Amino acid sequence: MRRGFAVVGLVLCLQACAITPPTGTVTPRAPATTAASPTSTATPTRSAEDGFTASGDVPAVLDPELLDGIVTTVDSRSEFARRIFANWPQFGLPLVDEAVSTHYSDTIRDFERDYPVGTQPTAAPELNLGWHVLAGSPSVVGFASDGYEFGGASGARSWRSFWFDPRSGALYSAAELLDRNAARTALATAALTRSGVDLAQAGADPLGAAPLLAFSPSGDLLVGFDQCQVAACAEGRVSLTIPRGQADTLLTATGRAARDASIHPSAPPAVAPTASPTPTGPTTSATPDPSATTPKPPAKVNCRKATCIALTFDDGPGPHTQKLLGHLRRAGVHATFFMLGSQVEAYPKVASAVAAAGNEIGVHTWDHRDLTRLTPSQIDREIGSTVRIIRKDAGVSPRLLRPPYGAMNAHVHAAARRAGLALALWDVDTLDWKTRSTKKTVAAAVRGARRGSIILVHDIHPTTVAAVPAIIRKLRAKGYTFVTVSQLLGRTKPGQKYFHG
Ligand code: NI
Repeated sequence: MRRGFAVVGLVLCLQACAITPPTGTVTPRAPATTAASPTSTATPTRSAEDGFTASGDVPAVLDPELLDGIVTTVDSRSEFARRIFANWPQFGLPLVDEAVSTHYSDTIRDFERDYPVGTQPTAAPELNLGWHVLAGSPSVVGFASDGYEFGGASGARSWRSFWFDPRSGALYSAAELLDRNAARTALATAALTRSGVDLAQAGADPLGAAPLLAFSPSGDLLVGFDQCQVAACAEGRVSLTIPRGQADTLLTATGRAARDASIHPSAPPAVAPTASPTPTGPTTSATPDPSATTPKPPAKVNCRKATCIALTFDDGPGPHTQKLLGHLRRAGVHATFFMLGSQVEAYPKVASAVAAAGNEIGVHTWDHRDLTRLTPSQIDREIGSTVRIIRKDAGVSPRLLRPPYGAMNAHVHAAARRAGLALALWDVDTLDWKTRSTKKTVAAAVRGARRGSIILVHDIHPTTVAAVPAIIRKLRAKGYTFVTVSQLLGRTKPGQKYFHG
């Protein structure tokens, strides 16, 4: 195990150490504004676009590139108007990965149990689970889940922190981070200063029931509660602050190391995947300078004469995308990738390689929220943040937006128009996320294809990536020519929706 860890870590280091020295420090991002008003029109920093929101102070959130070589798992499901998207990190540390996977899987399972398919809610239930890096150093890493659950009437936000030793792979309990008796007293004091907060709602041991322990950018200790846990639901998530000076007296040596890793982070030992393959193939050596990147343009195709078709890959980039690029390169095919900003942030070099190979990149929002549930300014942030990170890391400007789940309303159309993006949907849904079968994915793509079709698949599933060579071979045998969505559609109008060419 340790040997594999080291070897994979080295491979990852070869790709990335030139730009992220293992001993380098990373400046914490500025926190999100507290209790963000859903209609706030302030231009957010990059951090505020994807960071936490809470009533009270919010934790320092770090760039995930700090955790070099991290592998994310994405689980995206949409059936019978039940929408689920979960994205979580894996560190190559069995105990940590087990605890993290269990947390996300159990949350998905509970949601599916609460909202069985076949029920007809007034609005589609939605579960959205992401993650943020809280802290990093050679001796301690912290990250937190970031959850949103909509049950058909109102939404609720949750969070949960995980702290661990990246050398031993051991998880730290709250008792290893702080003196719990002293912390209980400090927490009760902090609650007294906040009107509307009633710790008794969290049970006899509010500290034990608090899902989040984290640190503010200035080093205060934050104890976080889920929405509706200790205050009226309208308050959102609640965090109580124990000022740094007071926290000093109740943190253990490990707790102080966790605080220091939050406010003065440095890279932990390279994390390595256990289940997923290391990205291989060509990667660029650094974040591209957009002006220096010259993506290889796809060959000109006249789709009035050729029988054109477009392959589209959603929810990436991810750990299997490099392999997919190899398939596409060998076949001489260019495809369209609808990327999530959060995944581009985690896999910037892969996003760059996708563009450098001449593929098209479109926007799939930052974190896969159902946009019809958001305010116009929130939709603008979802789109704008993703456009910016695609420009920065892939060096290209997207022209297309694919809203998650294909969910659209007048606000989504208007936001796409404002951003200058056409809405690119699909007419062939392979359901690859559901079957997770290479054979069935090939069959669905080939069976559904028509002239001008836009085929929907996901490069986050290895079964789908394995299906691509056969999809290309079989459709070419039927006379189809593969093009990007922009090639297929020709001139498009921002804000207008397209299902096929
Ligand atoms: Ni999607």
